[in-house]
Amino acid sequence: MPSKILVTGGLGYIGSHTSVELIQQGFEILIVDDLSNSSIEVLEGIKNITGVSPEFVQLDLRDKKKVNQLFADQPALSGAIHFAAFKAVGESVNKPLDYYENNLGSLIHLLQAIEKKTQTFCFIFSSSCTVYGQSDLLPITEEAPIKKAESPYGNTKQIGEDILYDNSRSNEFLKVMTLRYFNPIGNHSSIEIGELPIGKPQNLVPFITQTAAGIHQKLNVFGNDYPTPDGTCIRDYIHVVDLAKAHVVGLKRMIADEQTDRFEVFNLGTGKGNSVLEVIKTFEKVSGIALNYDIVSRRQGDVVEAYADTTKANQILGWKAINDLETALKSAWDWEKKIRKI
Ligand code: NAD
Ligand code: WQD
Repeated sequence: MPSKILVTGGLGYIGSHTSVELIQQGFEILIVDDLSNSSIEVLEGIKNITGVSPEFVQLDLRDKKKVNQLFADQPALSGAIHFAAFKAVGESVNKPLDYYENNLGSLIHLLQAIEKKTQTFCFIFSSSCTVYGQSDLLPITEEAPIKKAESPYGNTKQIGEDILYDNSRSNEFLKVMTLRYFNPIGNHSSIEIGELPIGKPQNLVPFITQTAAGIHQKLNVFGNDYPTPDGTCIRDYIHVVDLAKAHVVGLKRMIADEQTDRFEVFNLGTGKGNSVLEVIKTFEKVSGIALNYDIVSRRQGDVVEAYADTTKANQILGWKAINDLETALKSAWDWEKKIRKI
């Protein structure tokens, strides 16, 4: 039976970019999304890039019966990349139950359906550098201790990883890879697909591009009194296409049965940290726009510095991020100009 890969949340930001890479590497995919944070037009964008119209089912993974039916209808599924989740850190503080219900309920429903399978099933989980909190050691390796989560969102990633670890011990057919993303930015160079934040963006790069597009009067830089060279926080900004490619490499490793354990963890970042002011300066350089910004007080919950040690992903997956900050920011700006018709 030919195998097929389920991509949950495949019309979202990272999921759509990964769907493109999977198709271009010859995988047959099934995208499932409830469109709660994406639009059906993304399917068209994927088709325009790849020439392939991927199979799509609109479904809310919180509906256990429908998830079971999906697996019954799709016996060829042999793997899943699970992107579908709510992801707004601030919102999760105000709506913790929604976050636990969606991010953990959906995961459990998938694993329960997968448990009925009697053949190997590969499962890749979207985790986050948020699980490390403020790491005592930099760059951050996969061995860094998991700190108490700062938000319900972060907690769903920690608990999600625990659920997967436990299930990888109890289900002999389940292989798991959990990928801890640092800060994904940018868009596909075709600008057929890209990040579509709903409402006012909380993340730095969409706020920068929207400010440059005139949607916001100015960007607030949250604090310049941190113990870093220019006083602003440092993050590891990774081009979303590099991130997407890592999923394909990871999936191939699992399919080739090369895992050394049925639960593996990899950091996905560039290995390089950039400050908020460096991101602003680089954006100004690639866009030719002087960005209007103010320094304001610190944002609660921000860690000072976080960037990945990517040695494990480089050596074991044979994967490395190749796009630099300039390329990523240019693609983010090109996308903003396209959607705002500038
Ligand atoms: P996104 O919101 O763009 O994509 C998630 C997709 O999942 C959306 O299309 C949404 O409609 C869908 N979805 C949500 N709940 C669903 C449900 N119950 N049933 C079906 N579909 C559902 O987010 P993204 O930035 O692409 O993030 C993808 C994954 O990566 C998430 O798990 C997120 O937590 C994780 N992650 C994201 C970042 C980041 O900065 N973007 C960083 C680390 C980890
Ligand atoms: C980056 C830097 C801000 C906005 C978040 C989640 C994390 C992960 C990635 C999902 C920080 C500063 C931001 C603004 C600013 N997502 N900033 N003005 O906080 O590193 O991580 O996204 O898993 O869980 O917490 O990313 O883009 O919000 O902020 O000065 O308007 O930009 O203070 O230093 P963050 P971010």
